[in-house]
Amino acid sequence: APAALRELLLGRIADVPDYPQPGVMFKDITPLLADPAAFGALTDAFADLCARHRADKVVGLEARGFILAAPVAVRAGVGFVPARKAGKLPGETLGQSYDLEYGTAEIEIHADALAPGERVLVIDDVLATGGTADASLQLIRRAGAEVAGVAVLLELGFLAGRQRLEPGLKGAPLEAL
Ligand code: PRP
Repeated sequence: APAALRELLLGRIADVPDYPQPGVMFKDITPLLADPAAFGALTDAFADLCARHRADKVVGLEARGFILAAPVAVRAGVGFVPARKAGKLPGETLGQSYDLEYGTAEIEIHADALAPGERVLVIDDVLATGGTADASLQLIRRAGAEVAGVAVLLELGFLAGRQRLEPGLKGAPLEAL
């Protein structure tokens, strides 16, 4: 992102030490959401990525990805599709499990949420290990749609999510604002 936008966004993300467990520095985006100038600039930047990568739909990853992706969908004039934690969607679903540090997690989309050939941009707040985003890419492809890219507010480089995501991206862009 341009330096001014970067400064605006980083200035509205709070570091919370030892949350949710000791040794973890939590990135709290609620100050950014509470600032309409920052939230608006972020929404515009994500919407620009939608246009640049010719996305027909955005997939938001539960839960903070919902908050960020929904206004982008409206701004960009594309549909919003939620990727939810398992068991939350009422219709027929496609599910994808992925490894966590300890154990596994699973996300789902509605089986009919994406049309074959549609280009989909995944939006989330943070790319950490990349497990969640990688699972979403598999769901998009299993639905027959195309991955236009992954766009996140913040990439935690030291967790190497970009490397984990690379095979699943198959050349599609990973954009960290
Ligand atoms: C966080 C974050 C991303 C994901 C990143 O969500 O918002 O979705 O983890 O981690 P990863 O790259 O290691 O997969 P979380 O699972 O805490 O869900 P929540 O937003 O519902 O609290």
